[in-house]
Amino acid sequence: MSNSDSRASLAKDFERFKRDLPRDFAAHVRDTYRIDLSGRYLGESLPHPIGKGSGQLSLNTGQLETDADAGLAFAVLKTVIAQDGEGTQSMAAWAIHETRMKVERRSGGWTVTWKGRGWDRSFEDYLGLVRAARDLARAGRLLAVPSVKYHLPRLHEPFRFEEYAFTTRALARAWDASPLLLEKDFSPTLAGDALSDEKQQILRWLEEVPSCIRDHAAVRLAMKLMNARFDDGFQREMMEAAAGADALVVFNRLYDPTLGVAYGGPELSDRNLRVLGFPTAGADPGKPSLCGTGNISSGRLIVEYALLGCSSVQLHTLFQLPLEAYPATHGSRTQRALHALVFEPRDGLIAVMLEREAAGSLARRGGELHFLDLLPDAYRSR
Ligand SMILES: Cc1cc2nc3c(=O)[nH]c(=O)nc-3n(C[C@H](O)[C@H](O)[C@H](O)COP(=O)(O)O)c2cc1C
Repeated sequence: MSNSDSRASLAKDFERFKRDLPRDFAAHVRDTYRIDLSGRYLGESLPHPIGKGSGQLSLNTGQLETDADAGLAFAVLKTVIAQDGEGTQSMAAWAIHETRMKVERRSGGWTVTWKGRGWDRSFEDYLGLVRAARDLARAGRLLAVPSVKYHLPRLHEPFRFEEYAFTTRALARAWDASPLLLEKDFSPTLAGDALSDEKQQILRWLEEVPSCIRDHAAVRLAMKLMNARFDDGFQREMMEAAAGADALVVFNRLYDPTLGVAYGGPELSDRNLRVLGFPTAGADPGKPSLCGTGNISSGRLIVEYALLGCSSVQLHTLFQLPLEAYPATHGSRTQRALHALVFEPRDGLIAVMLEREAAGSLARRGGELHFLDLLPDAYRSR
């Protein structure tokens, strides 16, 4: 099919999928457009690059089932606060219950305002959710992985190894396969905490946390980096310090000290993309692959993150908009968001990949365009 025929098909697919997005839309895209949307997260191959970031939308099995039915590629479970064998949590201040969330406009985009923090039910309940996630992953329906916030000490204090040991071992048992796939969250709210005032302290966490976790189980580890309250150069230093992780999720929300809340929207994607494109002083940040997060509200933004090295993306806000904000008329919010991200005729993933083909900046290989070919060479094989 020529590039212009593909565009005509795209306009039709966009219209008809408003009512019903096929679960296996990635296979349809491959057959119809000869576009391979495959992405990667934490070393796992994905049918397409779009997943859900940790938060209030991955708290229970019902949400995961809906995401699996919609054809989402992966989901990160809500962050649980680590504990030791006695149930003590050094980061207990993060296990806060707060129900009210407000979806609102900020700088021309959307943001969710919420003052809660981590998982606020029992650790046993969380292990139940991890077992359900494992079953979905094994059945090939949805890759769903846990997320943890472990103890982070002050500069001259030791790590509380009992928390790392107890929590990691319990998660590995619930996952019941090796390696355990795990995200470690350095929360955005942490950026507003006095603990985050010291650059050396943050760099030490990023350097030492991988081995604190790996001491207790075979883990493939993603570290979700916060947006610290320092300059872009420091974000790059954080990436370099975190080279012991297998993947980096870049970067969690910004912090508004006046309102005392974390936020997203265009300011977040602007900063993240600027930092990812920032020239590095030395070598690349080592081996971790990258997963983008932050105001991903169109296929065009997925492509921008990919061009800077991200082999997948994880979204939260776009899955939480008022129904009238989606072009689709039927389906779950996950389906409606996927429909817009992939099939929107001007800014959707297919449209932007075809646009790049027409401009000569993305070439077919074996007759197909490949999403992963958007990545710079150094990231393509990670
Ligand atoms: C209400 C809410 C709760 C969140 N909770 C967590 C969390 O527990 N752990 C975490 O790593 N990220 C959390 N996040 C961050 C999201 O996973 C995501 O990375 C971030 O919001 C940026 O993506 P977005 O602009 O698409 O929302 C949360 C975000 C929101 C809006």
